Amino acid sequence: MRKNDVIIVGSGVAALQLAVHLPRHLNVMVITKSSVKNNNSSLAQGGIAAAIGPKDHPYLHYVDTIEAGRQINDHGSVYHLTEEAPKVIQELRTFHCKFDTYVNNELQLGKEGAHSLARIVHGGGDQTGASIVDCLLNKIGSNICVVENELVYDLLVNEEGQCCGVKTFDKNEEVHTFTAPHVVLATGGCGELYRFTSNSIQATGEGIALAYWAGAQVKDMEFMQFHPTLLFTNGKTRGLITEAVRGEGARLVDGAGNYLMDGVHPMGDLAPRHIVAQTIFHSLKNDQPVYLDLTSIPNFEKRFPTVAKLCRKYHFTDKVPVAPGSHFLMGGIETDQQGKTSIPGLYVIGEAACTGVHGANRLASNSLLEGLVYGKRLAHYIKNQKREINIKLVPKHKPQVNLSSHRLPKIKEIQDQMMENVGIVRHKKSLQKQLSWIESFKLDQWLRMDFAKLSKKQWTTIAMLQTSFLIARAALERTESRGGHYRSDYPFESEKWLKKHTVQCRKEVRG
Ligand code: SIN
Repeated sequence: MRKNDVIIVGSGVAALQLAVHLPRHLNVMVITKSSVKNNNSSLAQGGIAAAIGPKDHPYLHYVDTIEAGRQINDHGSVYHLTEEAPKVIQELRTFHCKFDTYVNNELQLGKEGAHSLARIVHGGGDQTGASIVDCLLNKIGSNICVVENELVYDLLVNEEGQCCGVKTFDKNEEVHTFTAPHVVLATGGCGELYRFTSNSIQATGEGIALAYWAGAQVKDMEFMQFHPTLLFTNGKTRGLITEAVRGEGARLVDGAGNYLMDGVHPMGDLAPRHIVAQTIFHSLKNDQPVYLDLTSIPNFEKRFPTVAKLCRKYHFTDKVPVAPGSHFLMGGIETDQQGKTSIPGLYVIGEAACTGVHGANRLASNSLLEGLVYGKRLAHYIKNQKREINIKLVPKHKPQVNLSSHRLPKIKEIQDQMMENVGIVRHKKSLQKQLSWIESFKLDQWLRMDFAKLSKKQWTTIAMLQTSFLIARAALERTESRGGHYRSDYPFESEKWLKKHTVQCRKEVRG
């Protein structure tokens, strides 16, 4: 059993930002289930939104964030996020983060959907996430131990109900225990629950399941954002084409070359994501393919090297077929402004958290920003907390459950069912169907098992079923359409839901 001061699960920008801002006298362990750069942060193309242009102001960024979030954001959180954004960029520049600049060293600013001004700071053209991850990894001190290929499968909770550590499977599926008075989940989102996704294969949402099983509250799980433009060929999505491409003039067109977004929304191709994604979805449902016309962008290869490489790989040049896919979860484990959850000692930052900043639909390029702002803020909080912990655990009484006759689905089945029933368009019947389908795998019985006896694959499947269940149940509860949550049986926003959130908490905590 190894003792630490802080355990951070995950290695995206939120995790690394926290790690590098914690004081050097603390022993910090960063645990990641894959390699340190294999995560959604490293794939992020667009950039970081920050009001730093001459005509911009954090208040304008705040207004755009709340408008995109369809008014149910936590206004205080949005205020802090948008105020902090220019300072975060400034600090990364002092860390020598490679952002794209003009010859006079001024930052280049891109434009993305639902922003009233160009305010997206980017690096390496469309390799912003990778630039920041590299920059933060260079700042890792000797107090930080990074453990790769180690999957956290349980949270330890002591007699006082405080989270005090984690249990893991290493790459050989051996079991280990690590303790700490501060356990932080920075495990990212769950785009991999869907057949079509922009996300890394690692984004399976297990952090949300872990926290829920330990008794934490999860919030707003129905709000899944679908990115409008993933390269789409032979019935499969093949990777993200950043919205910044439309910010530079690319247009969505139908098979006859007509502009798809004309007359749909005043912001046209740069309308909020859910509007563009739903428009493309309906076109594809009617067997009308949609393309992104890239011909108007000068220096395409230089400005968008990742997208250019992807297009070359699939032999597309000027007109690229696109489809929407899961991209970002606005909901997650409920936290306060420091990242604290309803369980003492357990914190969540980044996409796994629901701080309320994104409301029903995240504004483009606010996600790296969220990870950076909340990572740093939590470091300040933990700095002033105690370092001792009682690790006397609540005794676990595990009834012997014979699961030999219980089957688990294949991960692909989960992805197909989620896309079909809890995807871009949902309705009561499809959601009920999904919940019954998940229930047929007797999730509650699997949860009574000693997880150490499962394989990593079985455990991951159970966690994916759990997170899918939370999304479907919240989507069934919210009888309206708002932001990323669209119900064909309740197609409009409802006044009644304006101030309401879906909150789920497990009564029978996994013991
Ligand atoms: C994009 O580059 O289009 C994605 C950026 C984001 O989701 O914020």
